[in-house]
Amino acid sequence: MKIILIEKDGTERELEAVEGWTAMEILRDYGVGGIKAECGGALACATCHVYVDPAWVDRIPAPREEEREMVEDHAMDVRDNSRLSCQIVLTEEMDGLRLHMATNPE
Ligand code: FES
Repeated sequence: MKIILIEKDGTERELEAVEGWTAMEILRDYGVGGIKAECGGALACATCHVYVDPAWVDRIPAPREEEREMVEDHAMDVRDNSRLSCQIVLTEEMDGLRLHMATNPE
């Protein structure tokens, strides 16, 4: 399966992904700049913030309350489609998932 990352300049990158992994793990392993994932996926940093493409928002499980709170309290430039990529566990149905790069804390 694949996920698509859309960089801030509009460049699209197709990344090989693995079912059962989180989107953050794929982005981090590809060395995507801006995804520091400081807490390693423990929902404690918000440095894995991405925007889910509007076409995909309703096709993936909604964020849990803890994720919503972390986004609101710690992410920058929060939008309706903001997600923490460490909380998006990839399934077969998410093949082709499109994620847009967000601005994350340095
Ligand atoms: S990696 Fe820290 S909240 Fe996602």
